[in-house]
Amino acid sequence: MEPNRETLAITVDKSHLITIGEKLYTQSIELIRELVNNAYDADASVVEVEITEDRIVIKDNGSGMDLKGLKQYFNIGSPEKKYHPKSPKFKRDRIGQFGIGKFATLSACGSFTVSTQSRDFAAEVVFDKEEWGESEDNWHLPMTTLSYEASRGDGTTITLSKLTKKFNIEDVEERLIEGVPIRDKDFAVYLNGKRVMSRELPGRRFPVIEGTPYGPIHGEIVILPSAQTTTSEPLGIECKVKQVTVKREYFGMDTWGRDMARVRGLIYADFLPVTTDRSGFIVDSEEYKAFYGAMLKVMEDVKAYL
Ligand SMILES: Nc1ncnc2c1ncn2[C@@H]1O[C@H](COP(=O)(O)OP(=O)(O)OP(=O)(O)O)[C@@H](O)[C@H]1O
Ligand SMILES: [Mg+2]
Repeated sequence: MEPNRETLAITVDKSHLITIGEKLYTQSIELIRELVNNAYDADASVVEVEITEDRIVIKDNGSGMDLKGLKQYFNIGSPEKKYHPKSPKFKRDRIGQFGIGKFATLSACGSFTVSTQSRDFAAEVVFDKEEWGESEDNWHLPMTTLSYEASRGDGTTITLSKLTKKFNIEDVEERLIEGVPIRDKDFAVYLNGKRVMSRELPGRRFPVIEGTPYGPIHGEIVILPSAQTTTSEPLGIECKVKQVTVKREYFGMDTWGRDMARVRGLIYADFLPVTTDRSGFIVDSEEYKAFYGAMLKVMEDVKAYL
């Protein structure tokens, strides 16, 4: 008998979107990093983060989105930034890569609004969790086109309402210092009106420049003066991909006893593959193994100095 060939459709349940937003990120505070980094990728020079009792607003003066851009925004898992890894205006190395970061908002709110203006287009789109759950097969969101106002300037504002989580401003500031490119001279981030600035640790600095078959590792290791070891700065060495701290690593320092408390550092390795929530590395990748091996050698010198 001839085999009867048919096809079987793959379907995605509507609720999966909410699951991604609510369950992918270990901490909902990470949504702020995701949204600010989207602004960086869109060539914004200023991002204002406003956190109040009932709203979180993240406003940027980046390129904004036209209709095509908005469709792009609501595409799940778009590899757009993999194909266009540099931003057009500032030629930034774009941070985004997975096409899901915007849904991190869903971990802390019941509803978010995207308002955007780009060239001659302006519009507002609302994603409301409850409305999304109402029907099984309507995948459309309400969109209002607005009149273009030159005085407003191009850019995007994301407003979270019906908040389900409260954030401490100091915690948000910490996250911003580590998680967004505030060291870039063309990028200023304000939190409730105050500019977020990077910190410099005092101490002896060891520059790090190492090559691996996958790309360079660079940065510095800082040895704090012994009196400074009680700094509130968390232990370990910040490992950054595209200026975003993914993880603090010890590189074997956990066996160093008290000396470990004196060592900090910032290491940049843009070639490292990261997990989709940007909170860890793919540790069984060849890239990570090469990175870890090179860093162990660096740390031997640091240990000898100590
Ligand atoms: N503030 C913004 N200004 C202009 N375009 C934006 C903005 N935020 C998002 N976008 C557009 O929406 C798309 C989706 O954003 P999203 O954060 O979900 O994915 P991504 O940044 O591409 O990848 P990742 O999941 O790694 O963050 C982006 O690729 C970009 O085209
Ligand atoms: Mg993103």
